[in-house]
Amino acid sequence: MATILIHADAKAAENATAKRLLDKIATKPDATLGLATGGTMEQVYAILIEKARELNLSFAGLKSFNLDEYIGLSADHPQSYRTYMNKLLFDHVDIKPENTHLPRGDAADPAEEARRYEAMITEQGGIDLQLLGIGINGHIGFNEPSSSLGSRTRIKKLAISTMEANRRFFKPDEAVPTHALTMGIATIMQARKVILLATGAAKADAIAAALEGPVSTACPASVLQFHPDVTVIIDEDAASKLKLRDFYESIHPGGEEVYFVK
Ligand code: GLP
Repeated sequence: MATILIHADAKAAENATAKRLLDKIATKPDATLGLATGGTMEQVYAILIEKARELNLSFAGLKSFNLDEYIGLSADHPQSYRTYMNKLLFDHVDIKPENTHLPRGDAADPAEEARRYEAMITEQGGIDLQLLGIGINGHIGFNEPSSSLGSRTRIKKLAISTMEANRRFFKPDEAVPTHALTMGIATIMQARKVILLATGAAKADAIAAALEGPVSTACPASVLQFHPDVTVIIDEDAASKLKLRDFYESIHPGGEEVYFVK
């Protein structure tokens, strides 16, 4: 079973997530991190920057690979995930820019770019710790329902609900991209450790389906039930539809976990 940690509120869940990233950086300064975007991660990165400063923790030896990028947006587009990562994390820490990787949304040949990205992850030794959010339809990265559980980095069409959810990041008259390059589900499953963070009532159905539903492409995050080392960090709102919530809370009261850094 996954380690399921239910925290009182979003702030506590974000702190718990940032703490695990800090622990990984402290114990493995040359780790490869798999990073995620989305509203959920904004505070995680803010906490990470603040605490890393307090702890005098260097990111100089780290490598990072982000999950995904919109097709058609150049790196310097205000809504690209590259811009998000630069603004919210990379510009504030001493990670070497050349060690930070996202798929190139404006690549002339997106299918080739997907193959290049997948190969680069493998060549660089794989991902030590993959951070994940979850879509309201259970997507991870941009692996929408019906994604092959054996998929690798590739082009994906975005679900209408995903485009609607992400519209808030774009100007009212701006078109939301319809396609993305995303790590595949098998790519994500190869990460040595996975941390999934979800907060808020809008994620409650997706979390219940992912943790307690059948493993199915209908809810791509459900495949994590097969991952040998996954920690799910949620707040009470995101946990509200879990049938076995009392059981999870009895194992880790208040979301606390006695754990040993690997
Ligand atoms: C986005 C991203 C995902 C993210 C998810 C949830 O579209 N591709 O990586 O986890 O949807 O986003 P949010 O945190 O804004 O709810």
